[in-house]
Amino acid sequence: MIRKDIQFDKKGRLRHFLTTEGISRPLITDILDYAENFASVVNKPVKKAPLLRGKTIANLFFEASTRTRTTFELAAKRLSADVININIQTSATKKGESLLDMLRNLEAMHTDMFIVRHMTSGAAHFIAEHVAPHISVINAGDGSHAHPTQAMLDMFTIRRHKPDFTALRVAIVGDIMHSRVARSQIHALNILGVPDVRVIGPHTLIPPHVENMGVHVFHQVEQGLRDADVIIMLRLQRERMQGALLPSEAEYFANYGLTPDKLALAKPDAIVMHPGPINRGVEIDSTVADGPQSVILEQVTNGLAVRMAIMAMVLGRTSDEEVAS
Ligand code: CP
Repeated sequence: MIRKDIQFDKKGRLRHFLTTEGISRPLITDILDYAENFASVVNKPVKKAPLLRGKTIANLFFEASTRTRTTFELAAKRLSADVININIQTSATKKGESLLDMLRNLEAMHTDMFIVRHMTSGAAHFIAEHVAPHISVINAGDGSHAHPTQAMLDMFTIRRHKPDFTALRVAIVGDIMHSRVARSQIHALNILGVPDVRVIGPHTLIPPHVENMGVHVFHQVEQGLRDADVIIMLRLQRERMQGALLPSEAEYFANYGLTPDKLALAKPDAIVMHPGPINRGVEIDSTVADGPQSVILEQVTNGLAVRMAIMAMVLGRTSDEEVAS
């Protein structure tokens, strides 16, 4: 059972950032507004802000990552924090040290925050439940459960192009079954009042009862994309698939891959998103991925500002306490 209440301290302030499920619309808006300030900082010649000077942040990535790990590291450095990148492959966990013992040792080095990516759903929550009271945990993706900072940078990107969430039709296409990104996006989109969130994919890649999350299900991509304002393409997450869920990548691309023809079914000003990594010719055609409606690399850039905002908000809480004491 994954607890949602542990994200907040006794004063109701954000202590950990583990999931978008159940958070409030004002909190999402506060994060997006705060991130706007950092988006302008990253465009300045001197990109540093001193907000987290003296804080130590440890990146714990038990699973591969390019965008998330790098933007968290860069974001922490831009906030003047000290960053430790733990190489799990060469860490003492390979000698049998348990995860909790590793954390105790990092705590003994006066770490203030753990950024955690793990292949097991619930891992970040487990760690958050076991860390010392002054430590914060940010979930950088756990199994197929949640990837809340990705969802927040996606909301930030959408808002910059389509400011009124209450007028949007958002289509999420592909491997919804194994996608922590889709789950976190669906929660955030619902909280922000998006009236039509669609999930599109073959029966084998749509989780049972997903309608209960407040989405409309389509198996025909041509129907699902019609008049969409935002299209979010997802990768086939083979590392989380058990057994053969698809006949072939070629057939998948023919049915669900986003090509110019399929994109033309959406609104003319629709934006195309993808959390990355993209697999060209599997879920998206290069003409679309690199085309004028694609905001895929903008998402990466925005990840920096959004992660700065979340880290500053979470650790700013402890700084406030230090100043007050
Ligand atoms: N979107 C995303 O999580 O990418 P990485 O796996 O490269 O971090």
